[in-house]
Amino acid sequence: MERLQKVIASYGYASRRKAEDLIRNGKVLVNGKVITELGTKVETNDIISIDGVIINKDVKHEYYLLNKPRQVISSVTDKEGRITVTDLINTDARIYPVGRLDYDTTGLIILTNDGDFANMLMHPSYEVEKTYVAKINKILDKDDINKLKKGIVIDNRKVDIKRFKVRKKDVEKNTSIVELTIVEGRNHIVKKIFESMRIDVIKLSRVSYAFLTLDGLKSGEYRKLSIKEIKKLYVLKKC
Ligand code: URA
Repeated sequence: MERLQKVIASYGYASRRKAEDLIRNGKVLVNGKVITELGTKVETNDIISIDGVIINKDVKHEYYLLNKPRQVISSVTDKEGRITVTDLINTDARIYPVGRLDYDTTGLIILTNDGDFANMLMHPSYEVEKTYVAKINKILDKDDINKLKKGIVIDNRKVDIKRFKVRKKDVEKNTSIVELTIVEGRNHIVKKIFESMRIDVIKLSRVSYAFLTLDGLKSGEYRKLSIKEIKKLYVLKKC
């Protein structure tokens, strides 16, 4: 027996919080009966439907790694009609992005319809390293680099920068390309790190996520994750 909102999320239909809203709003039926109580437990063979569509029938999980281009939204739909990450993937499955990259950030993003997998990756205790390459509007001095290496406090919480290096400097244009590795998943975190030092991020790309990289994928291209990679991501979960 599992809680209804957890089961809805595990089918990739909605996040757990959204599933709770759907239940509260009377949109969820179990075996044909409207359920509005959040704690309701269901069994595997109970038929769950939302807005008249049965959700727990032969759902096959899919897992993708996308090289997100700029000007693409990290969500399933967009009120303003902008292109979303799911528009770029050719599937009928109800996939959604695991976490988000900003509209103007490029790079590695995972998409799936496996709610359990997505929840695991997005949980704050799932501390995998993510590497970003940023173009910034400063040539960093020793003090800047020491500050970054010590870790930066954002919204009262320290962000540890596991690795940091300057890849390139353009003295004429007063810009640098830097690479930093963090485990943080907070929204806009890289921009906030530099903003706290009065530095603008001109371009940002996520180039790796745990052991996954963008190798072989041009902007806008994607591939399926292999079973081996999916298992490896599960292994990284702290017990
Ligand atoms: N940090 C940011 O500031 N933006 C992103 O898209 C990802 C990490």
